[in-house]
Amino acid sequence: MAAKPDSVQLEVRDGIAVVTVDNPPVNALSRHVRQGICDAVREAVADPEAAGIVLACAGRTFIAGADITEFGKPLEGPGFLEMIDVLDDSPKPVVAAIHGTALGGGLETALACHYRVAVASARFGLPEVKLGLCPGAGGTQRLPRVVGLEKALEMIVGGDPIGAREALAHGLADEIVDGDLTEGAVAFARRAAAAAEGGPALPRIRDRDEKVAPARGDRAPFDAFRKKHARRMRGFEAPEACIRTVEAAVELPFDEGMAREQEIFAELMAGAQARAQQYFFFSEREAAKIPDVPRDTATLDVKRAVVVGGGTMGGGISMCFANAGIPVAMVERDREALDRGLATIRRNYENTAARGGFTAEQVEERLGRIDGVLDLEAAREADVVVEAVFEELEVKRETFRRLDALAPAHAVLATNTSALDVNAIAAATGRPESVIGTHFFSPANVMRLVEVVRGEKSAKETVASAMALSRRLRKVPVLVGVCHGFVGNRMLFARQREATRLILEGAAPEAVDAVLYDFGLPMGPFAMADLAGLDLGWSAETSTGSTIRERLCEAGRRGQKTGAGYYDYEPGAGRRAPKPSPVVARIIREFAEERQVRRRDDIGREEIFERLVYPMINEGAKILEEGIALRASDIDVVWVYGYGWPVYRGGPMFHADEIGAGRIVARMKELEAAHGEEW
Ligand code: 3HC
Ligand code: NAI
Repeated sequence: MAAKPDSVQLEVRDGIAVVTVDNPPVNALSRHVRQGICDAVREAVADPEAAGIVLACAGRTFIAGADITEFGKPLEGPGFLEMIDVLDDSPKPVVAAIHGTALGGGLETALACHYRVAVASARFGLPEVKLGLCPGAGGTQRLPRVVGLEKALEMIVGGDPIGAREALAHGLADEIVDGDLTEGAVAFARRAAAAAEGGPALPRIRDRDEKVAPARGDRAPFDAFRKKHARRMRGFEAPEACIRTVEAAVELPFDEGMAREQEIFAELMAGAQARAQQYFFFSEREAAKIPDVPRDTATLDVKRAVVVGGGTMGGGISMCFANAGIPVAMVERDREALDRGLATIRRNYENTAARGGFTAEQVEERLGRIDGVLDLEAAREADVVVEAVFEELEVKRETFRRLDALAPAHAVLATNTSALDVNAIAAATGRPESVIGTHFFSPANVMRLVEVVRGEKSAKETVASAMALSRRLRKVPVLVGVCHGFVGNRMLFARQREATRLILEGAAPEAVDAVLYDFGLPMGPFAMADLAGLDLGWSAETSTGSTIRERLCEAGRRGQKTGAGYYDYEPGAGRRAPKPSPVVARIIREFAEERQVRRRDDIGREEIFERLVYPMINEGAKILEEGIALRASDIDVVWVYGYGWPVYRGGPMFHADEIGAGRIVARMKELEAAHGEEW
């Protein structure tokens, strides 16, 4: 098969063959690139003018990995290992010249070279685990031989890249080049070629043993690693498989280790989790695209922000700005609330520092960017305002009326409402085109999702600015339309309604939660309600005891913060140790008797699953039909980043396709017959 013209070029410079990959956008190893590298390196080896070879990349990055769009299709052109072997077997020194990111198959390609030089900003990583895979081009066998067991486990199982300095310290990079990368790499190759002449054989990572030999026969480091990361790896297949490949690197000779890697890679690739995770990779990128808002739409350059409200959400959102280096004024209505808000922020930062997240200086630096104020006048200086006051339409409209009078004409005015009508809020201003929803998730400084809620009058620039700002805050923005609860909460409400029915009919809250936990969600609806607090929007004065939730609040069970909600919590143990409560069981039973709900003791796991998840899927379908979400995959991005839907199951809409729409509809008709209209 011929190489695609131009995707790999070869020229000789100063007696060194420079092989340049040029396959935009990220120089992925598409079949024509693999072919091109094989051809060019073979040609360079045969060329008497070339004493050594540099493998470099054009454009923004070194090779960022295999071409994921080729996964699942029959292999064409040379396989990865054939290409890797061509590099590894070269009798002339091969130097990888790395800028941008050397990821996955890209790093594996670099590991098959004799040397690696890089610019200081380069990054090195094996992120295959995030696609439900293990590295499949020798990375699992070579990396441990370079960086040792511990670092290799961290990189292969964790999937996060490391910087060039760290790579240098671990021997993964041989040199950091300050000036022109290709020139530096050519000079390096010339030195290597001179040293190789009559000197020792070229260094090949496959021949090295010194970093893995000491760990041979010792399972302890692997078991310790498994234990340490058990929570993070729960439910995922790829991390455990990755650990097994590294075990092979330690225990087996190189070629046997390679065979083991290939076996494990093939198993993972054929599995449902890899399919879901690859789908999700593209879904996340798709969510950034808005058909009528082109990529080059002007966005606001945010230099100063204002957050109105310093409660749970306002504090967290202020932290997001501070973390991204944007000065922010946090406005509260009185001294006491402001001091409380600022103290919470300080405590959060100090907790992170105590866990080693960052240094004491960084805590002060970030706090220094948050200015607590009592006057909305601060909005005069703002490029963007995020409102996070109480969830009451009139309070919000009044805030926006005042913001309209104060904020500069170019400012974006955003509301963090979780369910109110963004159009009604925008209408309180004379500039609804500048108003938009930015629905952060709690805790806002941790959760990655932002639902960007497009009002009917939001301008394209406002939409583009809110999306860009969210990304700058290191969030994943998903554009949604106005409706009660937007995408995520609207689907959650549907699930919650059925969860409550299930416990009334006789399923225990812990049985309901267990089904979702075992499916891979971080917690079920009742543990989640306890965490958020059962008294959100509840007050003792107006309580009528008309729901189980109200009855629990009346009994002083307001969730984790009071040590009791749907569950009992032992002091200090927190959410890790919710205990089923006989008191709650009694409250539910009495309530059900009053309401004459027929109790059953045969509600099984499958029924629980279907009754919780099918209404969500159904709501998702309506959301699509109404155009509230642009695409099914956006709904999945909302659920993975906002609610911890396990990424290895793609998302609720992806999962619906796995089950099959026909089967879901048929089952919903049965449930309608049994449980009524709402189905
Ligand atoms: N294959 C195919 N397309 C890819 C790709 C890949 N490996 N990596 C990125 N792209 C595409 C994206 O889909 C996107 O396309 P679009 O513009 O049409 O939406 C475009 O390249 C740009 O990507 P990003 O928007 O993500 O650009 P960034 O600059 O933000 O990030 C990146 C660049 C860090 C390289 C990021 O794209 C990334 O992390 N890519 C995936 C890297 C990866 O997982 N590599 C391992 C692949 S598996 C493998 O190598 C198997 C091997 O072991 C055998
Ligand atoms: P909160 O009650 O913790 O904080 C609201 C804060 O706003 C209070 O500190 C209050 O003193 C302050 N405030 C009220 N009126 C004000 C005014 N006119 N000027 C300045 N400050 C004022 O509420 P929370 O949880 O932070 O919610 C804020 C908004 O975020 C609400 O719209 C809520 O629906 C939304 N939201 C909440 C989430 C959550 O999980 N708590 C998640 C996502 C959105």
